[in-house]
Amino acid sequence: MYLGIDFGTSSVKALLVDGEQHIVGSASVSLEVQRPAPGHSEQEPDAWWQAMLSAVDRLAADHPAGLAAVRAIGLSGQMHGAVLLDAAGTVLRPAILWNDTRSTAECVELEASFPELRAVTGNPAMPGFTAPKLLWVAKHEPEIFARTATVLLPKAWIRYRLTGEMIEEMSDAAGTLWLDVGKRDWSDAALAATGLTRASMPRLVEGSAPAGRMHADLATRWGMRQPPILAGGAGDNAAGAVGLGAIEPGSAFVSLGTSGVLFVTTDRFLPNPDAAVHAFCHALPGLWHQMGVTLSAAASLAWWASVTGRDEATLLAELEHETARAPIGEGPIFLPYLSGERTPHNDGAVRGSFARLSQDSDRASMTRAVLEGVAYSMRDCLDALIASGTQVTEADVIGGGSRSGAWIAILASVLEMPLHRLESGEHGGAFGAARLARLADTGEDPALVCTPPRRVETFLPDPAATKAYAAGLARYRALYPALARL
Ligand code: XUL
Repeated sequence: MYLGIDFGTSSVKALLVDGEQHIVGSASVSLEVQRPAPGHSEQEPDAWWQAMLSAVDRLAADHPAGLAAVRAIGLSGQMHGAVLLDAAGTVLRPAILWNDTRSTAECVELEASFPELRAVTGNPAMPGFTAPKLLWVAKHEPEIFARTATVLLPKAWIRYRLTGEMIEEMSDAAGTLWLDVGKRDWSDAALAATGLTRASMPRLVEGSAPAGRMHADLATRWGMRQPPILAGGAGDNAAGAVGLGAIEPGSAFVSLGTSGVLFVTTDRFLPNPDAAVHAFCHALPGLWHQMGVTLSAAASLAWWASVTGRDEATLLAELEHETARAPIGEGPIFLPYLSGERTPHNDGAVRGSFARLSQDSDRASMTRAVLEGVAYSMRDCLDALIASGTQVTEADVIGGGSRSGAWIAILASVLEMPLHRLESGEHGGAFGAARLARLADTGEDPALVCTPPRRVETFLPDPAATKAYAAGLARYRALYPALARL
């Protein structure tokens, strides 16, 4: 029996998986985000800990025999967040999260003071990543920076609480801007650029390797026969990929979650920092992955729903009539930069826009523009990945947005590739984390464990729509420079 625990931004989810890879039980506890100032996004690490205790307590109450048999635990975590600890291992301030944009100025300073950053880490400095957050702390909270002995990512801090050991794995470490991603080792030069050394970093392992053993008192609390080992685990996107079986070079998925992600597995380190491609290690040895990230995907539709006072399902239902009425690519255009944009612009300051509004523009045509705008933004991600030498010919679609067939159909025509809906894509990082736990326990061949779920529906590009969307994409792309000037 294996336990996968995903530390998301809005919830902690624990999943109990048996030796046949069947899900025996799950429990989830929600989390709050604190926004003490514009652009700031924080959580208390102790809130993750308490949420995890409640989730696993509930699993243990519902499935005592299952918990008794747990052999290994895998962790999946929201990436990039900075947990600062003093020399005694005490948390110094709330964690600064991946979606916190306070360190925009520090990104510029970091690239200027360490021009090799892109070559070493394979990534540009983005405010979401960890290193610029430390520069911000050094500048604005110097007394806290002076007391900082160790910096851990969210799930490494949880592991520290669970096992007493400071250990991180490659996929999450790659999102710090302190890792030499090609070499899979900390970069002394990148650390020095933020006033840190290797001594402030946890030990590194692969995601499928053992990484500590849980304290005996917790094993007793949950009725486990023996204290389980922990696996290295993974950042939530790489963990999701392990859960979807995306571990072959070229295997790809699109996640239409709050943010939109195009994830492709690669057998090499393939950076393209100038187009804000994320080039990270995968959770398995000898593999890397690339991501294009658009910050507001399902979040754009949720925003439009709140503005119009309709729920998302109602908006999507209205669309069916609209789609039959207006020619594709001729209506309004929406740029989904509500929280700034990562790929390809790496611009935390740009904001979204509707353009080409007319007397005919109504709610339904604007809903369609929102779906198309997110699709164009994913096309920008795809082209940035292709420019670095990646080949992608098809992809699975997961995340809340994948419930809309209309949205996937638009996306297939805009991306010009077949897209597949899956039988069970919604277990997220927790299922991949449970698989990594199993690999750490058994040492099995990952290809035998990380199999893909069944594809239940395929959306093919429609040639006429693809042609019309090409014109729409050109207009969409022409708008960014104007918006950036604003
Ligand atoms: C990836 C990223 C997000 C977080 C969400 O670069 O910032 O996907 O990992 O938890």
